[in-house]
Amino acid sequence: MAKQLEGPILPFLRLDTGIALPKFRQVQDQLRTAILQGHLRAGTRLPASRILAEELGLSRQTLVRVLENLKAEGYLEARQGAGTFVSAALPRRPAKARFAETGDDVPPRLSRIGVLSRGVSAEIGRVEPKPFLPNQPALDRFPFAIWRKCWNTVVRGGRAGMGYGDVAGELVLRQRIAEYLALHRRDPCDPEQIVITPGGHAAFTLAVLALADPGDGIWFEDPGPVTTSNLLRTLGLNLCLADVDADGMDVADAMVRYPDARLAFVMPSRHHPLGVTLSLPRRLALLEWARANEAWIIEDDYDSEFRYDGAPLPSMRSIDSHGRVIYAGSFSKALYPGIRVGYLVLPPALVGTFRNLSGLIHRSVPVETQLALAEFIGGGHFASHLRRMRSLYAERRNAFFDAGRTALAGLAALDCSDSGLNALVWLANGREDRAAQRAVLEAGLQCYPLSDYTIATTRPGALILGYANVPEERMKTYSHVLAEALSRP
Ligand SMILES: Cc1ncc(COP(=O)(O)O)c(C=O)c1O
Repeated sequence: MAKQLEGPILPFLRLDTGIALPKFRQVQDQLRTAILQGHLRAGTRLPASRILAEELGLSRQTLVRVLENLKAEGYLEARQGAGTFVSAALPRRPAKARFAETGDDVPPRLSRIGVLSRGVSAEIGRVEPKPFLPNQPALDRFPFAIWRKCWNTVVRGGRAGMGYGDVAGELVLRQRIAEYLALHRRDPCDPEQIVITPGGHAAFTLAVLALADPGDGIWFEDPGPVTTSNLLRTLGLNLCLADVDADGMDVADAMVRYPDARLAFVMPSRHHPLGVTLSLPRRLALLEWARANEAWIIEDDYDSEFRYDGAPLPSMRSIDSHGRVIYAGSFSKALYPGIRVGYLVLPPALVGTFRNLSGLIHRSVPVETQLALAEFIGGGHFASHLRRMRSLYAERRNAFFDAGRTALAGLAALDCSDSGLNALVWLANGREDRAAQRAVLEAGLQCYPLSDYTIATTRPGALILGYANVPEERMKTYSHVLAEALSRP
């Protein structure tokens, strides 16, 4: 029980008998905090130790011990014959903390990036997984036992994973990733060209910091992923918005409108959220623009692992003969978002810069995670996990397409592209997608409205739904719940 001292003397002293901390430590800590926060100003005379001791219900001896300790620390000083004072040498502080802990009425002084970051939300992705949460891999089918074995192997290795790692990422993981890319993306590279990062967004950040200055232009698809557009804007880039159609980014239009951009951010394998792929003529035009203008292409190879009709499409990097593509990969969807491991494959000329910059910013990515992941890939588990997930997601996609198409007839048109983890539900009758999302959330399901992804353009209302996290046997039920929610006025 806390005992609030009523006396006028030092009203902020509060002894709590319900905690293990000795009383003399409580008084000592509270007096120190009061001085640091300006409640007791430099030069203030403290009440006599006898009075304070009485007030607090402590022995005088205890109180003297507290005061002696604080004198030794420099917070208090004794003046001959006059008593104990808050040290006059301490800087004078305002009586109240300058910023209330909760209020934001006096904004702190921030950098330009700090100010820009306050204008956007970074909270996407932490919602509790509910059925149809977009971009959510099937964690119900994650091979936990194998993953645990890989970790055990690392931990059994003793101190191997406990130091700072290689600034570019552990060589063994870079080797495994290079082997994976050669075999499954038909895109061989030297492990030295790879830099491991704490996720895809950290990889984009590194690329922007190394290659562009604030105010530089970056081609960006509209609609496009909110987290990425928020990041790029916050880093001070000028978003040069490019239209997207059935063939992906409208490269010809962007070339006319933004010839001088420094960068292009593109998702050629599967545009998020529209699900289209960038056609070969447009890929070649984009590469040629980058070559001619000494611009760089950040290729976000998003969702390339999950293509259900035919083999994964070759990456843009694999047809880049002029070293203009910075390839970014992530394990967030292929394994799970919390793993926080991504990587870049760089043109040789950029490797040294990116290695250094990554080391300066990240020091290293958690080494044990990297080693466990290398073990997982090296043991063939990553390839078989992807194989299993590909067929699972294809089944779930087909089940959603069948159940959803029937349930949603007259309410919406279901568009399940042949790749990725999400479907698009195009709303009928000009229905507004944010209102529709509210109805879906109220029904206990999850989805994102397409309007959240559009920046300057407008599109018909649509919802993005993730089918990959919904078991096949639940698909009919949830499709009916979805239809019910969308049929409400
Ligand atoms: C378009 C896009 N690219 C890449 C990623 C992967 O990013 P990260 O590895 O930081 O989770 C995401 C994740 O949300 C994304 O939306």
